[in-house]
Amino acid sequence: MVTTALVAPAGRKATGPKGLPLIGSLLDAWADPLTLMTRSAREHGDVAKLRFAWLDYHLLNAPAAAHRVLVENAKAYHKSPNYQGLKIMLGQGLLTSEGDFWRKQRRLAQPAFHRDKIAGFVSTMAACTTDMLDRWDRERPATLDVHAEMMRLTFRIVGKTLLSADLEADAKQFGQALDVAIKWANQYVESIVRIPPSIPTPKNVRFRRAQRVIESVVMRVVEERRRSGKDEPDLLSMLMGATDEATGDGMSDKQLKDELLTLTLAGHETTANALSFTFYLLSRHPEVLRRLRVEARTVLAGRDPALEDLPRMPYTKAVIEEALRLYPPAWVFERIALEDDEVLGYTIPKGAIVAVSPWVMHRSPELWPNPEGFDPARFLEPDPNRHKLAYLPFGAGPRTCIGNVFALTEMQIILPIIVQRVALELVPGTEIALDPSITLRPKTGVPMTLRADVP
Ligand code: HEM
Repeated sequence: MVTTALVAPAGRKATGPKGLPLIGSLLDAWADPLTLMTRSAREHGDVAKLRFAWLDYHLLNAPAAAHRVLVENAKAYHKSPNYQGLKIMLGQGLLTSEGDFWRKQRRLAQPAFHRDKIAGFVSTMAACTTDMLDRWDRERPATLDVHAEMMRLTFRIVGKTLLSADLEADAKQFGQALDVAIKWANQYVESIVRIPPSIPTPKNVRFRRAQRVIESVVMRVVEERRRSGKDEPDLLSMLMGATDEATGDGMSDKQLKDELLTLTLAGHETTANALSFTFYLLSRHPEVLRRLRVEARTVLAGRDPALEDLPRMPYTKAVIEEALRLYPPAWVFERIALEDDEVLGYTIPKGAIVAVSPWVMHRSPELWPNPEGFDPARFLEPDPNRHKLAYLPFGAGPRTCIGNVFALTEMQIILPIIVQRVALELVPGTEIALDPSITLRPKTGVPMTLRADVP
């Protein structure tokens, strides 16, 4: 039972699952971290303490606890060492850097995500979606993997909007390399003994090869821009033109590469996962799909949405928000305490790992009526009494997602275009297994049949 007291007594001791001698809950975490975290939250309350071998792990299950760590006392926490795999994969980019360096990079990238900029991306987002549907029309596949398709689509959109480059031809190779790299990064942080990537084990060799593919795509875009000498008003130009206030130096190629890799990955994988889960949910809830289609047809009558249409399509937004509630792509984020802290009366010692899991929070019966149900209407009239951090698909505080408006806009554009033009149905008998690795993804894709005769 979660018992969030308004004024919590100090010195509370967090409890958690006993686990096994020596390794604690490690086997459960490897087997099914979603269930382990959910059960720990339900049984041990606002702050549950898990043990993974020698590591103490505090799972914060109350919005007020998340607020303390992510917002109120954010300066006392850094990203946890579990981001190490991602750091090796992406280098020192916005997601993984800290302190003054992070602040400077965030300031540099921020203007590329200004609402006015995003407004300028809408027609590209729509055109890429239409291109994809035209290709489906030509190829008429009996079934398609909606997850692979959404990865390809959102990758192309990120390339066109942030880098002014059409990466359509690179999508397949980039996607395959990304799968290898993500799997490697996840296994790396889960390993009790972390073998450095420089040691040529078969896994490391595969990872290095994948990393070279990923990096070569990004650096080719940089070189092409340098050669053309063009000054596009995009993120790439902003980063390439940025100079250090003190020294006047530009970013090194390494820094540029790390930042671009981070933004390219963070900018498409999460959104693709969210869209895939949305189509999965819609196929399971025909009444929601019907209402979504009616809204799209009423407002758009077959044309593509423009930015001005979005406020007139509240149900579309609610469907996306509800899908992000049930299947948050960033299903857990973690910090390490830089100093002793107290969270709702629980002592968090310096060096402890704390985690906030949108998966757990979004499905808490204490915070949401009918928590497991897919009910977009709940977002049409949000409960004014619900804590702001009961819902945090994009995180909170200074490290909140820089691309949240980009992602929400993109999904609000893509969804109505697709549902107006085709009907996607889950291949009968398919169960969608979840892969909670760095992000929450469908383990073996989302196989769907495609019909052009939209009901
Ligand atoms: C549905 C889509 C998305 C979801 C669910 C999502 C979620 C998140 C979350 C939860 C964080 C914070 C993690 C933490 O506090 O540890 C984050 C950070 C970040 N996201 Fe997103 N994101 C999405 C889309 C995007 C897009 C479209 C971009 C860029 C185009 C992007 C770029 C980033 C970056 C660069 C960070 C690090 C920000 C910083 O620490 O300063 N994300 N995202």
